[in-house]
Amino acid sequence: MSNKTNPPYILGHTENELKRLSVQAEYWGEISLEVLQKAEITSGMRVLDIGCGAGDLSFLAANLVGSSGSVLGVDRSHQAVERASNRAKELKIKNIDFLVSDIEKIDPSLKFDAVIGRFVLMFQADPTTILRSLVKKIESGGVLAFIEVDMSVVRSVPVVAKVEKVLGWTTETFKRAGIPLDLGPQLWYMFKDIGIKEPNLVVCQRLDPGTSKEGTDWLAELVKSLLPMMEKFGIVTAEEVGVETLAEELHQSLLEGRGALFPSCLIGTYSRIS
Ligand SMILES: C[S@@+](CC[C@H](N)C(=O)[O-])C[C@H]1O[C@@H](n2cnc3c(N)ncnc32)[C@H](O)[C@@H]1O
Repeated sequence: MSNKTNPPYILGHTENELKRLSVQAEYWGEISLEVLQKAEITSGMRVLDIGCGAGDLSFLAANLVGSSGSVLGVDRSHQAVERASNRAKELKIKNIDFLVSDIEKIDPSLKFDAVIGRFVLMFQADPTTILRSLVKKIESGGVLAFIEVDMSVVRSVPVVAKVEKVLGWTTETFKRAGIPLDLGPQLWYMFKDIGIKEPNLVVCQRLDPGTSKEGTDWLAELVKSLLPMMEKFGIVTAEEVGVETLAEELHQSLLEGRGALFPSCLIGTYSRIS
């Protein structure tokens, strides 16, 4: 267990944020599936998904492991686990369970063939110590696979002032909360630090032109969830943000500037555990 204190969880677990997680999961769905497939999450495996949120990565894994396998999604938020469990019921996914727990408090006797997670290590004060403890839960020959981001690369090309301003609010909020913008690229070294010889990487950089609303919708929803913290840190006020019209304003500015949005870069890191 680490002695360091985790940064505040700045996204919260409101109804809006839990919905946003699923929209975001769709946005990053292809790369996430690619990482799980390359990591060989496959039929019959028992998978642990840490920081499962509304359950989207767990659902992808459940589909890959099939009825002979199982997935346990763990999140410290009751609201997230309730939502993930309800969605599993609605979708009639049977090989999945969700549990309210902090990562560090998961029953040490539980063993898995794979431990996975997405956008969760960035919120831990000491991700290397977390990874080291998670490896102990993996049977020999099993898989460790994580997907994290590099937010330091977000930008509009060519520069669109409105988009840059809004991107600036988001990165400043993460920085002020003590959450690293670039945990994704650091993961490879963290895997090495816990004794993994040659971790594998999958890198995905999206580019959303102004003609598509996907990127600007993703950004506006992120701002909506971060707004209470933005106001708390004195970065921007709700009036300045104008959440109701933000998505459309971003979309229009990108179109007018003939710009494209480079959102966060996603980095999947995975390895077999001997
Ligand atoms: C940004 S969300 C990502 C959710 C999901 N992995 C996805 O990709 O859609 C991060 C989730 O990790 C959970 N979380 C963060 N730190 C945690 C910890 N120490 N133990 C358990 N859950 C944690 C949060 O409650 C939140 O639901």
